[in-house]
Amino acid sequence: MNAALERIEGASIPTFVVDTRAIAERVVADEIVALMRTRPTAVLGLATGDTPIGVYRELCAAHRAGGVSFARATTFNLDEYLDLDAGDGATFREWMQEQFFRHVDLARENAHLPESKPADPNLTAERYEAAITAQGGLDLQILGIGRNGHIGFNEPGSSRDSCTRVVRLHEVTRSDAVRAFGALARVPTRAITMGIATILDARRVRVLAFGARKKEIVRRTLLDPRSSACPSTFLRDHGDVKLFVDREAAALLHHAR
Ligand code: GLP
Repeated sequence: MNAALERIEGASIPTFVVDTRAIAERVVADEIVALMRTRPTAVLGLATGDTPIGVYRELCAAHRAGGVSFARATTFNLDEYLDLDAGDGATFREWMQEQFFRHVDLARENAHLPESKPADPNLTAERYEAAITAQGGLDLQILGIGRNGHIGFNEPGSSRDSCTRVVRLHEVTRSDAVRAFGALARVPTRAITMGIATILDARRVRVLAFGARKKEIVRRTLLDPRSSACPSTFLRDHGDVKLFVDREAAALLHHAR
């Protein structure tokens, strides 16, 4: 692996510290490009938020340069807010459209996110899980971590065995989302998310965490007891997971070194 990646020996999840987030973004994007070349029909698990944005930027650039095609790929996003109209600029579908989908050759019908205003959200969630299974599962999941330890929208208290389902959003999650919505009252209270079991079923999981605001949750992810109180601790169960952190996010890891 890249010399710019410093591995933390003995960490509970294989963890790599990078000097700048751009290095991690490039490493993860390169891995996805390599996967797409060896397996053009790959099934990718995608994430939204500030964290993965540079990975999409790299993938779009690679596509523009003729280095990768997503024409035969399928994607499933981790989650989507409920109770927003389709086309609302705050939906994750619109975000994905802006950051990735409209820049690449992925077929629209192969780019899956849960609906944001379905007639029957529970049924939508059940069908989403079934659709992932029907595609043979996820080859590679990109993941960020919420400041409360959520992965996708699996908030504290989520079970290790959870599948795709309707969830209530935690207050930390909602207040972090004010950035996107402008006011707390506008942030949805519910979402559909892949479950923890769904995420851990992905054949590879690549987790990113950047900046000082993530240092405490990075520490807890690696060092807290493995439990529903901090869902990201369940990532330790995965056989092919890698966590990439920049120096700021790694600031509290001296015990793990
Ligand atoms: C969001 C998403 C997560 C994301 C996390 C961190 O609410 N549902 O998938 O990883 O919170 O967000 P950010 O990357 O903006 O810090």
